[in-house]
Amino acid sequence: MSDQALHVFQKLVDDSLDDHILYNLTPIEVFEPMVYSLESKGKRLRPILLLATLWLLDVDRLDHGISSALALEYIHTYSLIHDDLPAMDDDDFRRGKPSAHKKYNEATAILSGDGLLTDAFNIIVADEQVSAHEKVQLVLELSEAAGPRGMVAGQVYDMKLDNETGTLQEIQKMHSLKTGQLFKFAVRAAGVIGNASDEQQELLDRFAIFFGRGFQIHNDLMDATSDQEVTGKETGQDCVHNKLTYTSLLGIEGAIIELAMETEKAREAVDQLTEISGRDFSLLKTFLTYLELPEQVGTDE
Ligand code: IPE
Ligand code: IPE
Ligand code: MG
Ligand code: MG
Repeated sequence: MSDQALHVFQKLVDDSLDDHILYNLTPIEVFEPMVYSLESKGKRLRPILLLATLWLLDVDRLDHGISSALALEYIHTYSLIHDDLPAMDDDDFRRGKPSAHKKYNEATAILSGDGLLTDAFNIIVADEQVSAHEKVQLVLELSEAAGPRGMVAGQVYDMKLDNETGTLQEIQKMHSLKTGQLFKFAVRAAGVIGNASDEQQELLDRFAIFFGRGFQIHNDLMDATSDQEVTGKETGQDCVHNKLTYTSLLGIEGAIIELAMETEKAREAVDQLTEISGRDFSLLKTFLTYLELPEQVGTDE
């Protein structure tokens, strides 16, 4: 089991998204832009992490995780649509295509984001396979992770923090919230459905937060050093908008060191998980390959 397993989960996510979207009865004016953003080429990392974790915890309950995996991708996609709006990051490209507000218009982009956000909860609640008790827990977890104490709080800090005065502590908090929380939901939803022990859940949470923070540093490094063909979105934008990022605070080399530290902490969490469970959780280390940088990054300074 390795990268190939993750491809299987990716296909499961993509096929399930197709099925779900087909059955959707949403008015075309908001349905089309929702599908436009959902069906563009995202990496599907969050739902893949959810399914991979559930597979490791209880392979027989994998089917029960699909609705939560889709809900998570819906929420993530909505967050990207709103993140790109002129009032926020003002980015014209996303996932290799014009951003939703460029393809349609701002009002339509906002409403399609609202539609995805709301439907995420509908998908979980409408899943007849999942017990009522589990659904309540999943909805609670998702609303905490995505809402005003989770991802939304992180986006608020992202808007508010000042490139001149921001500290390392502040940036870590911002990353844990704006990016870490949705990854954390992935492993917590798997824990709810796959009955993780408290000890396992704590280590899974640690893995998700360190991975999420590393993922955001990687994202910031790619914004500073890569180009649109690789990332599918305009690069250099953090600098243009004077954003507080690891690269603005610590420089490229400093950011690379922080990335390595977060990666190591995530790796340690997986090792501890394997140790305390007496079961091999190393598939989770496959996710760390997403934190690897192209060779040329860091060689120019
Ligand atoms: C982009 O996330 C936003 C961040 C939190 C860095 P992804 O890089 O996972 O975006 P997609 O889903 O593959 O487009
Ligand atoms: C996006 O962060 C985080 C969320 C949408 C919650 P960024 O603004 O840094 O990500 P990109 O570079 O636009 O993908
Ligand atoms: Mg942003
Ligand atoms: Mg952005």
